[in-house]
Amino acid sequence: MMISKAMNTSLNRQIANEMNASHKYLAMAYCFEDMGLKIFARRFNQQADEERGHALKIARFIQDVGGSVVFEGLDKPKSDYKTAKQIVQAAVDSELTVTSQINDLVAQAEKERDYATRSFLQWFVDEQVEEVSSMTELLKLVTMAGEQYLFQLEGRLMAMMSAKSD
Ligand SMILES: [Fe+2]
Ligand SMILES: [Fe+2]
Repeated sequence: MMISKAMNTSLNRQIANEMNASHKYLAMAYCFEDMGLKIFARRFNQQADEERGHALKIARFIQDVGGSVVFEGLDKPKSDYKTAKQIVQAAVDSELTVTSQINDLVAQAEKERDYATRSFLQWFVDEQVEEVSSMTELLKLVTMAGEQYLFQLEGRLMAMMSAKSD
């Protein structure tokens, strides 16, 4: 095994964190759907898939370095958001939390002189910059639009989504 037992445990914990983030985004997507905001719902559904992808990326790495993947149970996500702004604010907060989790992992890898894990984690460091930035941008737009103009904002969001997938 190329990584320590402690690192293996921390990476498994991050798999659970990413799966919980995925679950949280899924709950948010359905709240948006309840609000009649189909494009927001689609955006958050995609985000849920991305987070699941992050979990599997970590699982793949653990296998590659000869560790063992252990899954945890999921936390019950909040599903009683009152406004779209509340949801997007919670998403920003969640991305900031994940960013600090990734930073903790990086610190651990550096402390252990585990450069394979350190290198692997760089992708996540960069990804978090992207995710905090795009969610913060969305929060600004939602705040600016106000709840009654969110339908109009959906067109803009659709354009942002297709620009991203180009
Ligand atoms: Fe993630
Ligand atoms: Fe994320």
